Amino acid sequence: PGPGPPSARRPRVPGTGTAPLELTGFGVRHTDGMTAVRDVDLTVTRGQLVLVVGPVGSGKSSLLRALAGIAPHTGLLTWNGEPVTEPELFLRPQQVGYVGQLPRVLSGTVADNITLGHQVDAAAAVSTAQLDHDLAATGGGLGLLIGHKGTRLSGGQLQRLALARALAPRTELLVADDVSSALDVTTELALWQALREHGVTVVGSTSKRAALVRADHVVVLQSGRVAAQGPWRDLEGSWSHLAG
Ligand SMILES: Nc1ncnc2c1ncn2[C@@H]1O[C@H](COP(=O)(O)OP(=O)(O)OP(=O)(O)O)[C@@H](O)[C@H]1O
Ligand SMILES: [Mg+2]
Repeated sequence: PGPGPPSARRPRVPGTGTAPLELTGFGVRHTDGMTAVRDVDLTVTRGQLVLVVGPVGSGKSSLLRALAGIAPHTGLLTWNGEPVTEPELFLRPQQVGYVGQLPRVLSGTVADNITLGHQVDAAAAVSTAQLDHDLAATGGGLGLLIGHKGTRLSGGQLQRLALARALAPRTELLVADDVSSALDVTTELALWQALREHGVTVVGSTSKRAALVRADHVVVLQSGRVAAQGPWRDLEGSWSHLAG
């Protein structure tokens, strides 16, 4: 970063910045006072796939929740050059979509779960999220009733349903926590490819090598700190034990 205020270095108009997301000295302190993440410096370029990897409890979910505006952060988060001062407003349709590690669904149809009553293209979202073949196989399509708390869908189908919901409002930034954990390799590869073609910027977490090799940038988190970052090919010599 050069001198001067961020607004002087990057365009202000949404959608034209080349580095929409920048974290500087970013951290997460939970309400009980526990610091889960500290000192994260990260630049995410438009359209990139950035993945966080690290041991259980290293702070991946905490980091992603704070990034999406669900948990409070410390340090600086800027979006298209503007500091995010009200994180809860950051998580809004067409800006940021969040998929949690344990996806939540409502009883009702697949379409209900994706549109949440808004005018969005549920079919396109289902296609990008790689859920269309599953829905076609059931014969229910978008009208499929998914049952109480999603009991009629598999774990991987629930993840992709939550993903479709997060993508549907023409989301610019998708924050996806461990979203491919229950997917077979073929579906996972198709998913990363579809997200790339969609053009959405993705920041996620994973413990799978198949995802890491497809990322533009990987952040290794250990005990809440960045132990290393870069392309996976530069990291796997030291960190392959973190990925299966
Ligand atoms: N809401 C919270 N309040 C207090 N502490 C929390 C909260 N959420 C997480 N933590 C703590 O923060 C640390 C990091 O947890 P986090 O869920 O971010 O790890 P993770 O890397 O996502 O782990 P996993 O690989 O199991 O998903 C843990 O010690 C956890 O107990
Ligand atoms: Mg987690």
